[in-house]
Amino acid sequence: MASNRTFTMIKPDAFEAGNSGAILKMIEEAGFKIVAMKATKLTPELAGKFYEVHQERPFYADLCKYMSSGPIIAAILEKDNAVEDFRALIGATNPANAAEGTIRKIFAKSIEANAVHGSDSDENAAIEGSFYFSQTERVL
Ligand code: CMP
Repeated sequence: MASNRTFTMIKPDAFEAGNSGAILKMIEEAGFKIVAMKATKLTPELAGKFYEVHQERPFYADLCKYMSSGPIIAAILEKDNAVEDFRALIGATNPANAAEGTIRKIFAKSIEANAVHGSDSDENAAIEGSFYFSQTERVL
């Protein structure tokens, strides 16, 4: 059975542009409950650890630099079929390929500065959520 939690980050481009509120509104209106949320700024080292699965990719160094370039909002979200439904809400990684009405289509600037992150599996949602939030910080 699919887990009912996923993990997201509002990335530096969207935060800097003042789009966090509009993005969170879309997330809530799509039926996701915010279970935990934190505004923070990644160091290059932490960004590198979060994205270490991509460390062999040509875009890894730039991605770490970009993800540590400004504040982000990290959140754990709850909804039935959370991972799959959230990926549908945010759209394709490259905003040029994202469907109309998706968060990335509306707010993303480029394939790298693509406004939001969404976990790609239940397993990664749990790993990524615990990267930011310990059990003691879990409020609901
Ligand atoms: P995200 O869903 O957070 O997961 C990995 C991130 O790497 C992705 O969003 C983009 O920000 C970035 N990314 C993926 N593919 C590319 C690419 N081809 N060029 C630059 N950045 C990329």
